[in-house]
Amino acid sequence: MKAFDFSVPTRVFFGSGELKRLKEISPGMGKKAMLLAAKQTMKQTGILDRAADLLRQGGVEVVVSDDVDPNPKDVDIDRQAAAFLKQKCDFTVGLGGGSSMDSAKAVAFLAAQGGGTILDYLAGGPRASLQDTTPAFPIVCVTTTAGTGSETTPWWVITNTKHHEKPGTGNDSTMARVAIVDPELMVSLPREVTRNTGIDVLFHAMEAFIANVATPFTDLFSREAIRLVVENLGTAMDNGKDLEARSRLAWANTMAGIAIGEGKSSTVGIHALGHSIGGQTDAPHGLTMAAVGPAYMEKTWDADITRYAEVTRLLGQAKPGMSAEELARRSPEALISTLQRFGCRVSMRDLGVNESMIEAMTDSAFKTMSGCLNCSLKSLDRADVVAMYRKSL
Ligand SMILES: [Fe+2]
Repeated sequence: MKAFDFSVPTRVFFGSGELKRLKEISPGMGKKAMLLAAKQTMKQTGILDRAADLLRQGGVEVVVSDDVDPNPKDVDIDRQAAAFLKQKCDFTVGLGGGSSMDSAKAVAFLAAQGGGTILDYLAGGPRASLQDTTPAFPIVCVTTTAGTGSETTPWWVITNTKHHEKPGTGNDSTMARVAIVDPELMVSLPREVTRNTGIDVLFHAMEAFIANVATPFTDLFSREAIRLVVENLGTAMDNGKDLEARSRLAWANTMAGIAIGEGKSSTVGIHALGHSIGGQTDAPHGLTMAAVGPAYMEKTWDADITRYAEVTRLLGQAKPGMSAEELARRSPEALISTLQRFGCRVSMRDLGVNESMIEAMTDSAFKTMSGCLNCSLKSLDRADVVAMYRKSL
């Protein structure tokens, strides 16, 4: 067995009703929080007011910034970090899906550098390595979707509005100190959001499993997360109020986050290609991976027969008597039928991509997501990426 290490530094409160823990987080975090949440939805569902009240009951002063857009933009982070500093906040609380949690991480990080622009710290910026930066202010993540796993990863993804890119970055200091995963907050999610975020969980878990940095530790989480998504996503989509299905999906999400966020673990080329679609089109994150995932599997299935065969099994698509090679060869098809089952077998055109965007998306994949590309089990060059994009049109 190869050598590996692991560390899961986030204190996770998991379970129905655990939102109440917000009352207890003040010691060690500070006295004034910036609460970042999505526009409208968190207010409409009453979750924003409940969260703010709980923080206040715990003795925390709250500055509400409920103006987070899907796929948060550099300019928003710059503005929110300036407000954090002006209001002399001590920590951030991201309340919502990946956009809110990633905003909370980026704001806590940028504010710790004294403000300025987050573009300096994204791919292509002068300080993109994040070396010699000041550790972020403390971060609390409260996830209201079963999707990005951001509550248990150091990663944050911010759209670069100048270059239409969607780079991901992060370091140890942008792991949430506390995460709350409360499935009750997810029961009101619409079917489409449940699906688009649930598919992201599937890709996190599957990609972590077929990454060249996978470890016996991440495999444990990946396998179980794939199994739980396959078994529960349909139920959560059809009956959003099914708290047991929501809970299982939420747990899959948190586990998949650990599988891609722990130590050197990572997603692979599917996320690299998907992010670059998101940078160009603002399409829902989960669907961008659904568009390119099958082409990626076709390109790479023979890189590790054992692992890709296992993917087919985990997706529940193994047929009796199939050899490991047959199972591995079948993995693209297994993924396609899984996507069809959840109604998200989409093409890049469905997401607003046209042929003329492929060159720019390829540039962006190498410039902003090379870390993930390099975690693929097969080395991928520019021609490979262009070919996978063309196949996914
Ligand atoms: Fe993702």
